[in-house]
Amino acid sequence: MEAPDIRGQWNANAAAWTEMSRAGFDRYRDLVNTPGFFALLPAVDGLTCLDLGCGEGHNTRLLAGRGARVIAVDIAESFIAAAAGIPHQGIRYLVGDGALLPFRAASFDAVTAFMSLMDVADPERTLREVARVLRPGGFVQFSVLHPIMSAPVGHWSRTRPGRARRAPSASTSTRARSPRPGPSARRRPSSVTGTSRSRSPTRAGPSPGGWTPC
Ligand SMILES: C[S@@+](CC[C@H](N)C(=O)[O-])C[C@H]1O[C@@H](n2cnc3c(N)ncnc32)[C@H](O)[C@@H]1O
Repeated sequence: MEAPDIRGQWNANAAAWTEMSRAGFDRYRDLVNTPGFFALLPAVDGLTCLDLGCGEGHNTRLLAGRGARVIAVDIAESFIAAAAGIPHQGIRYLVGDGALLPFRAASFDAVTAFMSLMDVADPERTLREVARVLRPGGFVQFSVLHPIMSAPVGHWSRTRPGRARRAPSASTSTRARSPRPGPSARRRPSSVTGTSRSRSPTRAGPSPGGWTPC
């Protein structure tokens, strides 16, 4: 199977995404994910942070607003151009792939990835790169789509010869059929955020990260 052109797809979406989110339509980000992420985030004042998959830079700017020096990386140059169009003290933007970070080992005190790791082509390699560029004792915090909302339980069904249509996934069809979801459906998390510390040679192992549905 041919690998999808992730960079091309994000580049094609960047202008619309930037316009809509800056106009306030990314309500889930603004009302749920971002407040949840920052509520969990350890203090970053004075830290050197990598923001991986920064998109148009909304959360990068909030991170820098907390006093971090931020280097923000995204694979899509259209997003980097949009982000860099809002100059902000303490932020440098770079086009780059999280699976091949152009930084020396142990360069960062912290790495953040706001809703981006589920989109990278090679998550394992990207996480190995994150571990490499983190200093011992530094931390990574990321949010991703919750599998309950994104698990590929949908399937393709053929409607007419030569045409295919994606059948709705179990979770979306449940929601669509129920105009007034019950309490358990309303509590269903749609993303998860977690923090984890890099192993320190001077201390015994990483401290356990807290995982919070938000
Ligand atoms: C859902 S968007 C999130 C953007 C931003 N973090 C936010 O919270 O608004 C995912 C981002 O990941 C970026 N991305 C995908 N694969 C990447 C990779 N391999 N390396 C760096 N960024 C990547 C996309 O270009 C896109 O900007």
